[in-house]
Amino acid sequence: MNASSPSPAQNQASTTTLYGGVTNRRVTVRDLAAAKQRGEKWSMLTAYDALTAGVFDEAGIPVLLVGDSAGNCHLGYETTVPVTMDQMVMLSAAVVRGTKRAMIVADLPFGSYQESPAQAMHNAARLMKEAGVGAVKLEGGERSARSIELLVEAGVPVMAHIGLTPQSVHALGGYPVQGRGDEAAHQLLRDAKAVQQSGAFAVVLEAVPAELAAQVTEQLAIPTVGIGGGPDTDAQVLVWTDMAGMTAGRVPKFVKQYADLRTVLGDAARAYAQDVRTGAFPAAEHSFH
Ligand code: KIV
Repeated sequence: MNASSPSPAQNQASTTTLYGGVTNRRVTVRDLAAAKQRGEKWSMLTAYDALTAGVFDEAGIPVLLVGDSAGNCHLGYETTVPVTMDQMVMLSAAVVRGTKRAMIVADLPFGSYQESPAQAMHNAARLMKEAGVGAVKLEGGERSARSIELLVEAGVPVMAHIGLTPQSVHALGGYPVQGRGDEAAHQLLRDAKAVQQSGAFAVVLEAVPAELAAQVTEQLAIPTVGIGGGPDTDAQVLVWTDMAGMTAGRVPKFVKQYADLRTVLGDAARAYAQDVRTGAFPAAEHSFH
């Protein structure tokens, strides 16, 4: 086998499905490209720690994102802006350690790639070398194209992120839907084509009208991953704390809540506290003699 011929594991990529087909290795960018060819939709969830990531890995989620949403969903900040590279490296390493099969994508946080392609490369290398992730994600379309190109040339798989880009929350004045109106829709299409042209293997479309997301998905050869982008993208991503009902207060309109973990966990904590108060815990079976 020479360097350019695919290994047996790589060959498997074009013939097996993401769900159940890939069992003894991590999901790769080739698997995701093949899924688009087959029209197979896939799911992505965020993860910020080894335990939760392990649950999602065992559940067969093919791609886990160590999102900088860790800022608001894990570290207690109001936005993603304060998240640092050191925090992303630590959380990403935990997610990698807790999983066997999922592709792990880590976000480059605000301020870690916007200065220059060289800065993007330096920090992407940290996520790959120190945390062991398989790919990085960064925000921006045309404005990030040069950085994506350099990373891809250097062998870093890049997932792009366009539409609503939460790292720009202060410039946007909140989290408004993007791509509404002709000019904004054309810009979104230009952004999508720019990141594909630069070599991104997939692109997240956040908070864009469903019809526009469908149009982008049809026009791109790489998979689109929607969050608030309607039903026609190639894949979907949700923040796990929103999806599982851990988030306090209101969640965005595009979230479907599949569990009510906040109530389950709160009830468990209240029952435990009550048992301690009454002396029901620890019982004989929890004690050593
Ligand atoms: O940080 C994150 O969780 C994300 C998703 C919303 C796509 O970027």
